[in-house]
Amino acid sequence: MSALPIRVYGDPVLRMKAKQVDHGSREVAELISRMFESMHNAEGLGLAANQIGEALRVAIIDRRGTEDGTEDLVLINPEITAAWGQQVREEGCLSLPEIWVKVKRAAHIRLKYQDQTGAERTLKASDLLASALQHEIDHLNGVLIVDRISGLQRRFLSGKLNKLRELSRGNG
Ligand code: NI
Repeated sequence: MSALPIRVYGDPVLRMKAKQVDHGSREVAELISRMFESMHNAEGLGLAANQIGEALRVAIIDRRGTEDGTEDLVLINPEITAAWGQQVREEGCLSLPEIWVKVKRAAHIRLKYQDQTGAERTLKASDLLASALQHEIDHLNGVLIVDRISGLQRRFLSGKLNKLRELSRGNG
């Protein structure tokens, strides 16, 4: 299975609200392995299915090298059930190459999701992991980091964003 190109800002699939999936289907298992391949290929730390062109509620997070977890996270139909506190972190996104912005998010979240076996799981996350999870769940709702910054910051980035839009038009 070969890595699929990461969809770039301007591609309409990044703006779609992803649909719930059936965790048990073979399509979802294949989607997940394609997502890992694409994420590793692009050296990303997380990926939502929209980013490889599938508006489905599946996201993955690379947890290798983190102190509190060695297992990568596969989130099927994730849903934030509680959020509290506040943090601001610099974030980038594979779909917005060369753009780094400070994004304000909840510092702690609780979420429920299904894992690859279909088991219902809950997870409490803080700090970096909490922000990574919110970033990926945003993708599933068609929301990008540039939607979470001020209009002034967005104007500052408008040249770069226009270039990405042209790039995605050229590819598609
Ligand atoms: Ni992203």
